[in-house]
Amino acid sequence: MAQNWTPDSWRSKPILQVPEYPDQKALADVEARIATYPPLVFAGEARKLRSRLADVANGKSFLLQGGDCAESFAEHGADNIRDFFRVFLQMAVVLTFGAQQPVVKIGRIAGQFAKPRSSNVERKGDIELPSYRGDIVNGIDFDETSRLPDPQRQDMAYRQSAATLNLLRAFAQGGYANLENVHQWMLGFVKDSPQAERYDKLANRISETIDFMRAVGINADNHQSLRETEFYTSHEALLLGYEEALTRTDSTSGDWYGTSGHMIWIGDRTRQPDHAHVEFCRGIKNPIGLKCGPSMDSDGLLELIDLLNPENDPGRLTLIARFGHDKVADHLPKLIRAVEREGRKVVWSCDPMHGNTITLNHYKTRPFERVLSEVESFFQIHRAEGTHPGGIHIEMTGKDVTECTGGARAVSAEDLSDRYHTHCDPRLNADQSLELAFLVAELMKGGRDEDTRLAAIG
Ligand code: PEP
Ligand code: CO
Repeated sequence: MAQNWTPDSWRSKPILQVPEYPDQKALADVEARIATYPPLVFAGEARKLRSRLADVANGKSFLLQGGDCAESFAEHGADNIRDFFRVFLQMAVVLTFGAQQPVVKIGRIAGQFAKPRSSNVERKGDIELPSYRGDIVNGIDFDETSRLPDPQRQDMAYRQSAATLNLLRAFAQGGYANLENVHQWMLGFVKDSPQAERYDKLANRISETIDFMRAVGINADNHQSLRETEFYTSHEALLLGYEEALTRTDSTSGDWYGTSGHMIWIGDRTRQPDHAHVEFCRGIKNPIGLKCGPSMDSDGLLELIDLLNPENDPGRLTLIARFGHDKVADHLPKLIRAVEREGRKVVWSCDPMHGNTITLNHYKTRPFERVLSEVESFFQIHRAEGTHPGGIHIEMTGKDVTECTGGARAVSAEDLSDRYHTHCDPRLNADQSLELAFLVAELMKGGRDEDTRLAAIG
């Protein structure tokens, strides 16, 4: 067990990105109440995810992590969850086919509510109000009451997470994710896009394979892996009072687990080694993510790895690189070399979203070609270093939004205002998400062919 650690030891450390709750007693009451609520996930599930991620670290699997930048109370509904889940399944199938490797599926969902902000305040004209920090903290509407942090929102976030997780578990295990449904996951509005044809071709090949397997006696009735899928949840562990309230001891091992989601990550703004967020995360046994942006250097990274993964367990730590398309080549190789030199086992994942945000026509957006370019560089760099490009981490939705420019349907700067619905950062829409999956599948296939060629020569 981590030394000198308790679920509340983070409280004595410096901390950034804390909402200013007007009523501390009300906050403490809500946290005390949430501490009595049932856990959202079980320790055994988090342990299983760690072993799946260990396969990724060892180059045997690929990680797909994605979902909203910020979940919202207003958009909570079955349709949104289903549409996200089906695009996610499609992406996973495309990647599995490309990589010929298992794909570990983790949503940014059922808990992704709290947002770090670059400024504490937002100004419009003469009015200055506290920044929106995610629905778990305050409201997005630009008025004084809405922007006041309200602890009762934590209760609502917990309940929404429980309901979302319930539906996701049903989808994953209740028949929806059955591979025999591979054709039905296509969303109506994607049907007339270039991705539809590619996906249809691939789905046909999968259907043929399933028909063949059925003929030899392997089918969804007797094979769980055809009938069900493993799906895990994750979010940024930003609001530590909430996380602490859901931290529980596992009765089988005596270890502490965060039970607000299977995996949690530390954001790029809150990863100071002597601060509260790192302190909290070091003591729980869940798989942990660590965002690595341009200000991360090799020594800083090794120090954080020491704190967060002292036992060098391969499934414990996922490094989520988010440098920007034009910076990744400057930063990533040095970090990979430091990790390799010190023999540290980690999962390397690429977040091609957060380093590529620009403003166009007053909208925060991300040009799709920059997203693709960062992913491509990430793969090339790993190939050159002889390490495994382990996964991608993206902000996406199953809806037909216009938040990121470009893609096969060429969303333009002028189109952004049409369907710009995100509560925080711009997400890839269903079409763009699928396009990205095809590109990544190609990159993985390229790497595999290269390995085969080298093996043949060697
Ligand atoms: C995010 O993932 O939404 C986020 C805020 O990322 P980062 O910490 O990398 O900026
Ligand atoms: Co974001």
